[in-house]
Amino acid sequence: MNQRTCLSVILAAGEGTRMKSAMPKVLHAIAGLPMVAHVVKAAEAAGTTGLALVIGHGADEMRKAAQKFAPKAETFVQEKRLGTAHAVLAAREAISKGYDDILVMFGDTPLIDAQALAAARQKLAEGAAVAVIGFRPPSPTGYGRLIEKDGHLVAIREEKDCSEEEKKIGFCNAGMMAVAGKHALRLLDKVGNDNAKGEFYLTDIVEIAGAEGLDVVATEASFENALGINNRAELAEAEAIWQARRRREAMLSGVTLIAPETVYFSHDTEIGADTIVEPNVWFGLGVKISTGATIHAFSHMTGATIAENCEVGPFARLRPGADLRKKAKVGNFCEVKQSTVEEGAKVNHLTYIGDARVGAGANIGAGTITCNYDGYSKFFTDIGEGAFVGSNSSLVAPVSIGKGGYIASGSVITESVPDDALAFGRARQKTIPGKGKELRERFASAAAARKKAAAE
Ligand code: UD1
Ligand code: MG
Repeated sequence: MNQRTCLSVILAAGEGTRMKSAMPKVLHAIAGLPMVAHVVKAAEAAGTTGLALVIGHGADEMRKAAQKFAPKAETFVQEKRLGTAHAVLAAREAISKGYDDILVMFGDTPLIDAQALAAARQKLAEGAAVAVIGFRPPSPTGYGRLIEKDGHLVAIREEKDCSEEEKKIGFCNAGMMAVAGKHALRLLDKVGNDNAKGEFYLTDIVEIAGAEGLDVVATEASFENALGINNRAELAEAEAIWQARRRREAMLSGVTLIAPETVYFSHDTEIGADTIVEPNVWFGLGVKISTGATIHAFSHMTGATIAENCEVGPFARLRPGADLRKKAKVGNFCEVKQSTVEEGAKVNHLTYIGDARVGAGANIGAGTITCNYDGYSKFFTDIGEGAFVGSNSSLVAPVSIGKGGYIASGSVITESVPDDALAFGRARQKTIPGKGKELRERFASAAAARKKAAAE
């Protein structure tokens, strides 16, 4: 089957008014990825060799987005929404290039999985002309019903066109189907619009193919595969299902999630075995975690790379470009951005490390701030191996601290510090014996005099 070529036609011309959004519906994200891009990913995983995106509403925005998530896709504009068959035909030019298989999918049905698509393609490889993906929803209302006879699919009847008897059928059309490329255009061109909605229904090709004596079958997929998103409540529902799948996958691959329902992944999160994730952790886009890390509760990260056996949090924030090498530690209330924390270095408490390198084994004291920005430009701070930065220090970039450099706590460091040097960047302490007591007595008698004057 892998030898067969396949064009995936993804229908995404709908306006999605119920999203109440300035953005086209299918660009709303699940796990940080536009829902239509999830469909593209499933198509790719099912071995598609060509991609056609049928767009309409918000065409410019869609084209721009597609360059990112499907740079190889051809886009076709369906000017008027005259039905799903009409929408597929918008991609006529791509279909006529002659593919073995044509897969039709909906851009707003993001949880479709590659196996369901591959199963439908398999039916074509076995000789079917059309293979429709069916499912059994808790309630079939609103869906097209699959009418079968002797193991073959004879028709799909839209709810509005169903008889009372047909409405009782629980096996429904998920919307997606595989059509043999050699028949696709001929079948689609025969579709008319004589139905309750006056639309050109893709589903009509089932009967048309049957009338030609071609083999038409239905495959069955789980309910999630067919979950169409029309509003933000359904978007959240799809997100929840996606997250549940991903958490399970992570756990089965050797990641401990203590409270899985509180951990959120992005579509591209990579997380290695023996990582322990405590409750309430957010993995934003672009996070890569190697093995054996511990991510403590309430940590938030985006674009971070975490090497073996690191420890992060609780309450840590790793921003894009945070690069933690082996056994590095970034502790509570620390923020790291565009910085490398090298092997075994410790940034444990209440610290901001931005545009910096923290050398291997260095220790950054509580409250250290790299002052990386002057309001116009960003500057780099280089902290050498084994350096020790005392608590509550400000490192005013550009600045460097040499290997083994030692910074006295409370320093404001504006000049670079050589290897093994000690730097103080604060006023020297002065201690005056007895002066504290003297001050206290002076203040007390002044207060008493004021009180007396007020009483007179
Ligand atoms: C469709 C199926 C129905 C199935 C259901 C599953 C048809 C005729 N009916 O119905 O059997 O049970 O999906 O959810 O296919 N679109 C366009 N251009 C158009 C029309 C639609 O791009 O002219 C796109 C929509 O944006 C949407 C998809 O095609 O992503 C499906 O259209 P929709 O109107 O939602 O079809 P349903 O009535 O839900
Ligand atoms: Mg729909």
